[in-house]
Amino acid sequence: MSANPLGNPLLTGLTEDQAAQPCTLVIFGGGGDLSRRKLLPAMYNQALDGALPANFALLGVALEEMDDDAYRAFAREGVERFSRQALDERHWQDFGRLLHYQPGSFTDPQTYARLKERLETIEPEFGIPGNRIFYLAIPPALIETCVENLNAVGLVYPVGNDGPFSRIIVEKPIGHDLASARGVNDVLGRNLDESQIYRIDHYLGKETVQNILVMRFGNSIFEPLWNAKYIDHVQITVAEEEGVGTRAGYYDHAGALRDMVQNHILQLLTLIAMEPPWAMRADIIRDHRQEVLNCLRPITPDVIDEHVVRAQYGPGFHQGADVPGYRREEGVAPDSTTETYVALKVYIDTWRWAGVPFYIRTGKRMPKRASEIAVHFKSVPPILFNANPDRQLEQNVLALSIQPNEGLSLRIATKLPGPKVKIFPVKMDFRYGSTFGDQSPEAYERLILDVMAGDATLFMRRDAVERSWVFIEDILQSWASSGTRWLPEYSAGTWGPLESDRMIEAGRHKWRLL
Ligand code: BG6
Repeated sequence: MSANPLGNPLLTGLTEDQAAQPCTLVIFGGGGDLSRRKLLPAMYNQALDGALPANFALLGVALEEMDDDAYRAFAREGVERFSRQALDERHWQDFGRLLHYQPGSFTDPQTYARLKERLETIEPEFGIPGNRIFYLAIPPALIETCVENLNAVGLVYPVGNDGPFSRIIVEKPIGHDLASARGVNDVLGRNLDESQIYRIDHYLGKETVQNILVMRFGNSIFEPLWNAKYIDHVQITVAEEEGVGTRAGYYDHAGALRDMVQNHILQLLTLIAMEPPWAMRADIIRDHRQEVLNCLRPITPDVIDEHVVRAQYGPGFHQGADVPGYRREEGVAPDSTTETYVALKVYIDTWRWAGVPFYIRTGKRMPKRASEIAVHFKSVPPILFNANPDRQLEQNVLALSIQPNEGLSLRIATKLPGPKVKIFPVKMDFRYGSTFGDQSPEAYERLILDVMAGDATLFMRRDAVERSWVFIEDILQSWASSGTRWLPEYSAGTWGPLESDRMIEAGRHKWRLL
C-alpha cells in the first residue's frame, strides 16, 4: 500500500478551539522513573516538534534534593537514553530553560505552600496566565494527601469561570479493586470536578490504538461487516518479553488481570466493539465506550474454568540466556500465586456481538513483545472452494498490529498461479514505518498535549474505571474463594500454558501465531 501523507491531510485531531493552552506542567514524582523514561522525553519531543504552547514551563516536585540545574541534568540523561528523537544541542538549551524543580515531601503541607509561591514566580516570567496541570506520577497511597493539599492551598480553581484552569492527571492503578477505586475516585471527586480529572491509560495514546476509530469509521468497507453476522471471533493479544523486572513490589500484589486487563485491554475492547459515535466529542465517545463495558457478560464462578486461565512463568530462556521463574525474581514471595499470564473468553451481550467470543491473552516473559487485535471473519460456506471438509480455507483476518511493527494487514484467499485452482492465503499489508517513515509519537506525547487542550476523549472517566472493576472483581472473587496454592506454569520464553490452548480450542479456535 502507498500513501502520500502530505497530499491529503485530513487531520481531525485537535481543532482550532482545542489547541494546547499556555500552562505550567507540575509533575509530582518529577524525579522518578516515569518522568525520566517517559514524561520528560515526551515533553522534549513535543518541544522539538513545535507542539508545545508558546508559553510553557515545567516544574518537577519530588523528595530528592536537587536544584533546577541538577534537574535539567537529570532530564537530559532521560532524554538522551529514552527519547524518540535524538537530543539536539541547540534545542536542548531552549528546552532546558523551561525546566524547574522543587524538592519536598508530598505529605508536608509546606511543600504545597512553597509550590504555590514558586508557580507565582514562574508564571509571570513565562507569560503563563495561571493555567496549571498537575501530573500525579506518584504511588497510589499518596494521591489523597496530594490532592487534598493542592485544594487546601487554593491550587485547584473552581470550574465554570472564564479564568485559568487547573487539571490533574492521574496514573494507574486507580485502586486495587472496586472499593478502593471508588475510594480514589471519591477523593478526586471531593476536591475536583470530573471535567478537571484526566485518568491516563497510555494505551489509548498509542497511534495504532487511535487508528482503530479511523479504520472503523473512516472507511466504508469494514463497518457493514462489523457484527456477529460476519465476524467469527476476535483475538486480543498483549505479549511482553520482559519479566517482572524491578517492579515486584507493585506487581506481586497486582498480577496480569489487574495490571493489564482491567485497564489497557478492556479499553482496546471498547474501541473495537463500540457502536459508531455520532460526534468526535469526548463525552459521546466515552458514553459509547462505556456501553461496551456495561454489556460485558459477567464471568461467574460456575463458568470461570471455561472462561479464564491464569498462569505464572517458571524458569526458561530469554534472548538465549537462562532466566529465573517468577517466584525466584527479586522481591517476589517464594510461594506467590500472582498470575503473570491470563487468558479470557469474553462475551459482549448486545445484538451486534451476540455469540461472538472475544479472546484475550496477556503475559510477561513471552517469546516476544507483540500486541495485536485480530478480527477473524466467518468462513465462506462449504461450497465451491471450501467444499472439502479436509481442506478448509483459512478465514479472512484483519490484524491490527499495535506494537511493535505497527500496522494493519488483511488475510485473503488468492489463487496460486498455475494451471490448477490452488488457493493460498496472502496478506495485504500496511506498515506505519514503511508508509509514513518517521517514528510515531509516543503515547504520552499525545496524551499530555490533549490535557493541555482540555480534550478528555482518550482518558478514563470515573464510570469506566469502576465498571471495569466490576467485571474484574467477579474473577478476582472466584480466584480468592478457590484458595489456589499453585498456578499452572509456563516456561519463560513460551506462549503461555497448555490450559490456555485448551480454552480457545474448546471453542474450535486457535491462538494466532505471532
Ligand atoms: C503498564 C503495566 O501499564 O503497561 C506494565 O503496568 C506493562 O506491567 C506496561 O509492562 C506495558 O506497556 P507498553 O506500552 O510497553 O506495552
